[in-house]
Amino acid sequence: MTLCCLNGVIGPVSEARISPLDRGFLFGDGVYEVLAHVDGVTRAKQLHRDRLEKSLTAIGLSASVSLDTVFSDMDRLLAASGLQSAKLYLQITRGPAAERDHRFPRAVDPTVFLMASPWSPSVLGPQAAMIAPDIRWHRNHIKSISLLANVLIQQQASEAGAIDALLHRDGWLTEASTSNAFVFQDGALLTPPLSEQLLPGITRHLVLDLAAAQGFSVIETEIAIDQLPRADLVMITSSTRGLVPITRLIPDQIIGRGHVPDYFETLQSAYQRVLHAHP
Ligand SMILES: Cc1ncc(COP(=O)(O)O)c(C=O)c1O
Repeated sequence: MTLCCLNGVIGPVSEARISPLDRGFLFGDGVYEVLAHVDGVTRAKQLHRDRLEKSLTAIGLSASVSLDTVFSDMDRLLAASGLQSAKLYLQITRGPAAERDHRFPRAVDPTVFLMASPWSPSVLGPQAAMIAPDIRWHRNHIKSISLLANVLIQQQASEAGAIDALLHRDGWLTEASTSNAFVFQDGALLTPPLSEQLLPGITRHLVLDLAAAQGFSVIETEIAIDQLPRADLVMITSSTRGLVPITRLIPDQIIGRGHVPDYFETLQSAYQRVLHAHP
């Protein structure tokens, strides 16, 4: 039984109820976070909290939400679930209005939904990805729950046998539909710079630090999508999938030599140590 916490009340997710007038349901008017809870520790909590605060500010909702309460609810939920490792989903919407109106409602409390699902981190081997145009909106730095474009892209990728789609705008790599994207090339680790076109991934942040500590030159730069087949390796990252090596582009291109180089395994081990560290 998966437990959730809806507006401070903990119970089975199957019994939780929200109004059909909730603006998350009607408009996708809300933001979210996904956190990894591993070996009894919620990982990178402060980084997730800072990003959530930025997302709330970007949609004009930060003044109505106490993040202290949200994060203490998360701790209560984890304690109630008894899970040592879990995927934590956190969603805040602009709440249930009296009627369907695009404009912000007055004096409506946000809906705060937290869910702790049984999960444990796994290490994925080499994967295939596809390339697709980035059809999303232009404010992808906000972790918005309006994910229709991501849903369509992810479904297309899945049907093609790809783990994700590497997205490009006008021929330039942005990120993937559920992860950030990187290229290993001649001893350097390249990734597009932060902008409104991509999510400032928490794993991206951790990986850039780890890679620099391991002697990679870390370069945040525009990457032409045509460059990917000529890379030594492509990588995607997210809090739930961790670091995933991409050695093949669907339908039929091999990246680099088609296998995972030793330096990737070294970076992977460093990340796994951080993920499982006991503070
Ligand atoms: C579009 C997108 N980019 C990047 C990421 C990776 O972010 P994080 O490392 O914070 O999980 C995600 C994760 O959900 C995502 O949906």
